[in-house]
Amino acid sequence: MSFSDQEIANIRAETPACAAQVHFNNAGAALMPNPVFEAMQSHLELEREFGGYAAESLGKEKISAFYPALAKLLNAKSTEIAFASNHTRAWEMGLYAIDWQAGDRLLIHDNAYTSNYLAFLHLVKTKGIILDRMPSNKFGIIDVEQVETHISNRTKAIALTHMPTFDGSIQPAAAIGSIAKAHDLFYIVDACQSIGQAEIDVQAIGCDLLAGTGRKWLRGPRGTGFLYVRESILDKLSPPLVDNISAIQLSDSEFKWVDGAKRFETYERHVAGQIGLGVAANYAGDLGLSRIEARVKMLSKTLRDKLAGLSVRILDQGDELSGIVTFKSDIKPAKQIIDTLWQKRIAVSYISPHQVTERPDAVRASIHYYNTQNEIEMFCDGLKQIIT
Ligand SMILES: Cc1ncc(COP(=O)(O)O)c(C=O)c1O
Repeated sequence: MSFSDQEIANIRAETPACAAQVHFNNAGAALMPNPVFEAMQSHLELEREFGGYAAESLGKEKISAFYPALAKLLNAKSTEIAFASNHTRAWEMGLYAIDWQAGDRLLIHDNAYTSNYLAFLHLVKTKGIILDRMPSNKFGIIDVEQVETHISNRTKAIALTHMPTFDGSIQPAAAIGSIAKAHDLFYIVDACQSIGQAEIDVQAIGCDLLAGTGRKWLRGPRGTGFLYVRESILDKLSPPLVDNISAIQLSDSEFKWVDGAKRFETYERHVAGQIGLGVAANYAGDLGLSRIEARVKMLSKTLRDKLAGLSVRILDQGDELSGIVTFKSDIKPAKQIIDTLWQKRIAVSYISPHQVTERPDAVRASIHYYNTQNEIEMFCDGLKQIIT
């Protein structure tokens, strides 16, 4: 069932920042709803009053509520969830935990986020792994039928960015998951831009590892993220870092990992942020990810249809597109458009050009379910004044 106007009005009332701006930068960092802010604020008040350790004891239940909240959102078990400071650290903890040997091959795609790609290069330099690329069709979507031809007996893992940062494309995560399973490969998924705007079911995707961030479509706080680790592969992985929450020292020469995905965590962390991200996950889950996904797709299609009538080039390609809308004007530079829109309190973001893939720079407008048709009108009116 789609959102009623009244529901959207209520959601916006719970998101006070909506009143002050048109926020089309949800792929950068979305606006936080009151319940997330209030949950964090009350924990910070405990920290102010009693110090961080006593506050942690007092907030124990709220802190541990993070695990079932994320597990429910992903269709996973609570013990398969680790808290992380952000996506990139979660991604690296998962990727580096694979037992890489020189000559092992990692199958990647050109849409990888820069930090993910840097981690691949880091493994090339430190472990001697070799990168192979999944081929794409003319829209930049992975050509699933051709993927197997790029798998050899040294291929150890597939790494996929489900939705990239730079345009509205969506990769066939579940189809790649089937291939990974058929070839007994580790499968790690970057859900940074998809978690919170679309249904993410780790069983349907068939991934072993999946990382995401709190501040984007989940509407959680900065400095938060998570890693999902499939229980059945836990013992095949060796976390690349250790501390006194991820492991137990047994003797002068021995330690053992703690049970479950918590072995990927750090002791010290943004506790209020962990509470906030748990609340944000429940907030999204209570609204319903299928409804959120449908509304995000509907609003972003409306925006693309309207942009098609203006003198800009829409850069998103593919049959199915996300809430990330990217375009370029031949009249005004992207940065000038972004700065001028912000003078009108319309927030969008900048996509840098990419030399390797020859992608041009662009304006990115990322639409969430709490945005409205009226805001799309305001955005298009503002843009029209800038580019004509
Ligand atoms: C697709 C994608 N992956 C990874 C990241 C990195 O996330 P974080 O900054 O939380 O490490 C981003 C951030 O924009 C992203 O868009």
